[in-house]
Amino acid sequence: MCGIVGYIGNKNAFDYLIKGLERLEYRGYDSAGVALLDEELKVYKTQGKVKDLVHVVQDQNIQGSLGIGHTRWATHGAPNYANAHPHISQSGSLAMIHNGIIENYATIKKALENRGRTFASDTDTEVLLQLIEEIQEKNGVELYEAVRLALNEVIGAYAIVLIDQKNPNILIGAKKGSPLVVGIGQNKGEYFIASDATPIIEYTRQVSYLEDEEIVIIEKGELSIKTLENVEKTPFIQELSISLEAIEKGGYEHFMLKEIFEQPTSISNSLRGRFSPTELRFAMSSLIEYEDKIKNLKRIIIVACGTSWHSGLIGEYLIEDFARLPVEVEYASEFRYRNPIITEDDLVIAISQSGETADTLAALELAKSKGATIYGICNVVGSSIARLTDAGAYTHAGPEIGVASTKAFTAQVSVLTLLSLGLAQIRGAIGTQKLREMLSGLEVIPKQVESLLKECDNLCREISEKYHEASNFLYLGRGYNFPIALEGALKLKEISYIHAEGYPAAEMKHGPIALIDENMPIIVIATKRGHYEKIVSNIQEIKARNGVVIAIVSKGDNEVKALADFAIEIPDVEDALVPLLSIIPLQLISYYIAVLRGCNVDQPRNLAKSVTVE
Ligand code: M6R
Repeated sequence: MCGIVGYIGNKNAFDYLIKGLERLEYRGYDSAGVALLDEELKVYKTQGKVKDLVHVVQDQNIQGSLGIGHTRWATHGAPNYANAHPHISQSGSLAMIHNGIIENYATIKKALENRGRTFASDTDTEVLLQLIEEIQEKNGVELYEAVRLALNEVIGAYAIVLIDQKNPNILIGAKKGSPLVVGIGQNKGEYFIASDATPIIEYTRQVSYLEDEEIVIIEKGELSIKTLENVEKTPFIQELSISLEAIEKGGYEHFMLKEIFEQPTSISNSLRGRFSPTELRFAMSSLIEYEDKIKNLKRIIIVACGTSWHSGLIGEYLIEDFARLPVEVEYASEFRYRNPIITEDDLVIAISQSGETADTLAALELAKSKGATIYGICNVVGSSIARLTDAGAYTHAGPEIGVASTKAFTAQVSVLTLLSLGLAQIRGAIGTQKLREMLSGLEVIPKQVESLLKECDNLCREISEKYHEASNFLYLGRGYNFPIALEGALKLKEISYIHAEGYPAAEMKHGPIALIDENMPIIVIATKRGHYEKIVSNIQEIKARNGVVIAIVSKGDNEVKALADFAIEIPDVEDALVPLLSIIPLQLISYYIAVLRGCNVDQPRNLAKSVTVE
């Protein structure tokens, strides 16, 4: 939930830390801070964003070739100066940054207070730091050993990095549940450490992702890894494949807009090499390796959160339609705390852009413990969820930086479409003709998205101009477009702070119809193939009550066009492929409305990109 970064080498750490924090800011932006060790340990921090920190320190000459930095999404304690990281130990010698939650912090804090420790913040991080220092002082042990012993006492999730004024040649990190990656710099003795590879990519491609319960010690230019049980591990160094351009704005005003316009490429990447529409063959290793299991599957359970949950709903429609397998789609946060019935015959699919969402991860661990086969659809390569699964398919959408998920969503839906068709083929549930139609349709989706983006952009701006001051929006859809209604509403509310609700269109008459007046825009996804007549009736009902209708229609539709205040045309494709197109104008409308309202599109208030806390 927070972003952490560290540097040790022979250059000034400050610039690396600031640049790194800017790249990690999508993870949280309640406060920012750095600690650098030169002759003495100095901490600079502020409530607010990295740019506020830069402003605060602009006249200072900050030096130090060892440093750590943090950008915070507040969990324990208000987002103020005192709670901003880095935190300093009572003696003033240790500085630490943390991403995660120490669940038993209250008990530990009480015990530390009884033994005379005082605290400067309300955070769980400071509790862990004081515990480390107490162990270091009382037991007279090295910093690494104090960290190891302290971590054996805590319950919860953490990625931490520490520096010590008394040991100017050492940087220590550790992780459990929250990600941490070490970059091996090109200059001798130079190392980077961060929550993800984005702050590192500019300087090196050689990285090592830490496993849970591992501690990394970088001392006098040497890297070593040990476990919480004090077992030495050989670092597994791998080559990064993401590019620097992929994590920069590339001329767009916001990452979100760039990511919306990247969708022709990202969808194409999510499909590339995975199927042949002529030979009707799938080249997905997960389908090939698990063929027998798939034949005998009784049920699929999909677990996810937020936007990924919406793509899970589309997955349900797809898999039930084509593979004729029962599917349940669960909010991971509910599923993990119920007493769900999971058997060894189940396939549990986790969908997650980040691959780090705490609730999804925990739901998956639960399913695994009950013997289900677990499958991951993740975007971030090497993420915790991806590593936990038995099988899976990466979405290959490329780094998604904007907090509002756009290209990750369409990549997830693309993979789910392929998966449903692959499952259907293995189970003999789909005819050749239908499979050919679907795969041929899927193949041209990237091109259709590209044209649609060009064609609907101006109209989406015009609609946004007209309705950006509305206080409420309703989104309606049926069948495959019901999850799109939910996703459209989520996009609008999270970045523009307008109250928006998504509903199955037929449910309107069971309550939401009471909301209709001439002030509330209603976005109706009314494409030709699915339940068209029914949704036309719903539009009639809205118009009869003077409602404002913005319709998403299939090309060539005249009936809905005549009724609606605005109509945005999308290509007339197979019903099951519509979501990949109908979401596009909804993403654009949310974006333009948020910009017109002066909102911070890429970093909406109170949110963070990856939710690594429950
Ligand atoms: O990384 P994940 O896909 O697991 O994240 C799940 C949600 O937190 C995420 O989709 C969230 O709802 C987005 N802000 C939506 O745009």
